[in-house]
Amino acid sequence: MTLTPVLSKYWNLPNSWTLDTYRAHQGYAALPIAFAMTPDEVIATVKDAGLRGRGGAGFPTGMKWGFIPQGPDPDGTVKPHYLVVNADESEPGTCKDIPLMLASPHSLIEGVIIAAYAIRAAHAFIYVRGEVVPVLRRLQAAAEECYAAGLLGSDILGSGYDLELTVHAGAGAYICGEETALLDSLEGRRGQPRLRPPFPAVAGLYASPTVVNNVESIASVPPILRNGPSWFRAMGTEKSPGFTLYSLSGHVARPGQYEAPLGVTLRELLGYAGGVRAGHELKFWTPGGSSTPLFTAEHLDVPLDYENVMAHGSMLGTKALQIFDDTTCVVRAVLRWTEFYAHESCGKCTPCREGTYWLVQLLTRLEAGLGTPADLDKLLDIADNINGKSFCALGDGAASPIVSSMKYFRDEYIAHLERGGCPFDPARATAWA
Ligand code: NAI
Ligand code: SF4
Repeated sequence: MTLTPVLSKYWNLPNSWTLDTYRAHQGYAALPIAFAMTPDEVIATVKDAGLRGRGGAGFPTGMKWGFIPQGPDPDGTVKPHYLVVNADESEPGTCKDIPLMLASPHSLIEGVIIAAYAIRAAHAFIYVRGEVVPVLRRLQAAAEECYAAGLLGSDILGSGYDLELTVHAGAGAYICGEETALLDSLEGRRGQPRLRPPFPAVAGLYASPTVVNNVESIASVPPILRNGPSWFRAMGTEKSPGFTLYSLSGHVARPGQYEAPLGVTLRELLGYAGGVRAGHELKFWTPGGSSTPLFTAEHLDVPLDYENVMAHGSMLGTKALQIFDDTTCVVRAVLRWTEFYAHESCGKCTPCREGTYWLVQLLTRLEAGLGTPADLDKLLDIADNINGKSFCALGDGAASPIVSSMKYFRDEYIAHLERGGCPFDPARATAWA
C-alpha cells in the first residue's frame, strides 16, 4: 500500500501555517462548496464518505453531527448549538494532532467552519492542551488571520453565515481529553467525566447540543468536500474508509507521521520508516496508544483498520504505533504507563482511583525483584476489577497494558521473580539470554 499524503502534504513548505500558503494549495476552497449546500446536505456528504472519528473511538462523524436535535425543545426553548474541537491530545504515544495544528492550523479552522455550519452552530471552540504553548499561539494567529480575511465572524465569504471561534487552553490534565470532562473544564469547572447519556449531542456545553470532534477528524472534512465521498471511499476499507495519520515512535529508524489508507499494515509502514532500529528485532507495539492492548511481531500483517485490529484483540485507537525492540523490559514499560494513569486518574470512581495506585505498587515491587508469584494473579485480578467497572475509559485504558503484557510476556514477569530483578539489567543480562 502506498502512502497517501493529504493532510500532511504541505507540512514541509516554508511558512506552511500561514493563510497565504494554505490558500495557495486549495485552502478554503471547500468553504464555497459547503455554503452552496444546505447544512443537511453537508452532513449527508460526510456520512456518505464514511469518515470515522480519529480521536480513538472511530465513531461515524456524519452520524454524530446528525444527532444534533433541530428545532425548539418541547417547552419551546431554542438552545444554541456548539462545536467543540478536542485538541487535548495526551494519550501516551499519540502525536498527530499537535504537528497538524503546528504545520497547518488553517486546515483545522476550515474544517471547523464547515462542521459548525453543518450543525447550525454560531460559536465553535478549540480546546488545546495547555502545555503546548506554540500550538496555542499558532491557532490564535491563524484565527486572527481568518477574522481579518472575512473567514470568521459575520457573513463569512458573503454567505450570510456567522461564526465566532474561541481558542481555549486547558490546564494540563489528561482526563480533560475525555469529552465530558473537557466540557466541564471549558465551563470553568474542575474537569471530571459526566455520566453519559445524555451524550454531548443532546446536552453538552452549557447543557446545549454540542458536537465534540477530534482535530484530525475535522481537518479531514475539507478534502472530502473538495473531492467528494467516492474519492475518500476509494481509500481504506469498506467499513473504515479513507486515509489517516499513523504516528510511529520509539525504536524505529525514522519516527514520525505516515499518512496512509486505513488497512495498511505495520510491516508496510515500517518499510517507509526504515524498519526497527538497526541490529534489533521488534518485540511489542501498541496499535493505538498505550490504552490499547499490546501487539507483538505476530501482528505485523494485521490490517490497521478498526475491524481488523479489534478482531485481533486490540483497538486502533489513536493510531499511535509505539515500537519497542528486544532491548525493552515489558514490565518496566507497563510500569511507566501505569504510573501515568495513576497520576492522571481524576479520582471520581474507586476502581480507577484505588486500582491504578495498587497496580503501581505491585509493578514497582515486581520490577525490583521483590514480588511473589501471587502478585501476578493479583495484577490480573485488580485489572479485572477496573476494566469495564470504571466511570470512564481512562480506567479501561490503564488495565489494558497489564492484561495484554501478561498474555504475551508472562515468562518475563516470572523471570523478574526468579532472577530477583529486571533481567535486562546488565548484571542479570547473561542469565536472561
Ligand atoms: P465512545 O465510543 O464512548 O464515544 C465516541 C463518541 O461518540 C463520543 O463523542 C460520544 O459522545 C459519541 N457517541 C457514542 N454513542 C452515542 C450516542 N448513542 N448518541 C450520541 N453520541 C454518541 O468513546 P470515548 O469515551 O468518547 O473515547 C474513547 C477513546 O478515546 C478511546 O478509544 C481512546 O482511544 C481515545 N483516547 C484518545 C486520547 C487522545 O489523546 N486522542 C486520549 C485518551 C483516549
Ligand atoms: Fe476518574 Fe479514572 Fe474514574 Fe475516569 S475511570 S472517572 S479518570 S477515576
